[in-house]
Amino acid sequence: MMLPGPTNVPNEVMRALNKPIVNHRGETFKRLYRSVIEKAKKVFKTEQEVMILTCSGTGGVEASIVNLIKKGDKVIVPSFGEFSSRLAKQISDFGGEVLEIKAPLGSAPSYEELEEAFERNSNVKALYLVTNETSTGVRIPWVKKAGSLCSKYDSFFIADAVSNLGGDELPVDDYNIDICITASQKCLAAPPGLALLSISKRARKYMEENPTSSLFFNLPRYFKFFYERGEPPFTPSIPLFYALDVALDLVIEEGLDKRIRRHKVCAEAFYEALEAMDFKAFPKRELRSQTVLAFWHREGINDSQFREYLDQKYGVIIAGGFGEVRGKVFRIGSMGIINSHHVIRTLSSMIQALRDLGFSMEEKAISLAEAKLKELR
Ligand SMILES: Cc1ncc(COP(=O)(O)O)c(C=O)c1O
Repeated sequence: MMLPGPTNVPNEVMRALNKPIVNHRGETFKRLYRSVIEKAKKVFKTEQEVMILTCSGTGGVEASIVNLIKKGDKVIVPSFGEFSSRLAKQISDFGGEVLEIKAPLGSAPSYEELEEAFERNSNVKALYLVTNETSTGVRIPWVKKAGSLCSKYDSFFIADAVSNLGGDELPVDDYNIDICITASQKCLAAPPGLALLSISKRARKYMEENPTSSLFFNLPRYFKFFYERGEPPFTPSIPLFYALDVALDLVIEEGLDKRIRRHKVCAEAFYEALEAMDFKAFPKRELRSQTVLAFWHREGINDSQFREYLDQKYGVIIAGGFGEVRGKVFRIGSMGIINSHHVIRTLSSMIQALRDLGFSMEEKAISLAEAKLKELR
């Protein structure tokens, strides 16, 4: 499975799903709940708050919106792909006045454009930024600077890091991120179904003083239940919490910095090898993601036929492109437990599949990847 989520899940994480269901209002679950929250703080690199909701990443993003954005609030949203434009719509549907900074697919708004948006508009309530646009493989290189800008203008900074937290540099306290959202099924290598949110003290205070009318996504209610009883307000997915607990143990055991480096090296091996195979990366070099790799197809390759063949004959599953570039671009998820074996197996399967389909393919791609992957030893 080389998808940009869900990703491969280690066996010990899958085995944790088999534990008996316990009372979610009993001591065993309370211990597990506290443990998962404390471990997640290490992955977000925060000493502030973390909440975990039983829903996918979209629910986590929606929770941040319904608790923070009120009718007429000005919100800056860089929009450069499916997830960031969806975010702009989601905020506007909830009554926010969205100031969208658009960029073409495969690109991203620059930091200067963001700065200009802040200069031109007064009273910006929040910046909502997708830090890694999964639909195009674009990574924002100026997240830390955006955090300083939000601090200068006294705006909230919300990061949708669904497809890069745990596989990329994103220390939320250091970057001044008020709410950072991720999901269990991407770089954390756990099964899908949980959204994790880091929440700054000032965002928490705002939410508590200006409560949302949402019931399920009412974050102050989650805080109240956590601090008064050690429980979530609603029935959590107990098996997924068991699994996430083990998945977080594995992240901590490996070391977050080492894990991020592993993602970087594996991504570089893919970029070098695929370029040697005459595939052109979709984003510009400085915007390339280290978790979701997007490439233009070579002339004559039929995207769906190729991906279907790769899956059926070689058991390797990669993803297609989104929107305007559907059929023209393919994407490889290089996250979670990604290692040398996955990189080489994916590349050699692609080479073989393309040869089977009548395309000439250079073997040197593999040796380039192998040379790069030596850095992991
Ligand atoms: C950047 C980004 N945001 C939000 C989402 C939505 O997450 P989910 O599918 O878990 O609801 C995704 C999913 O791929 C994503 O990549």
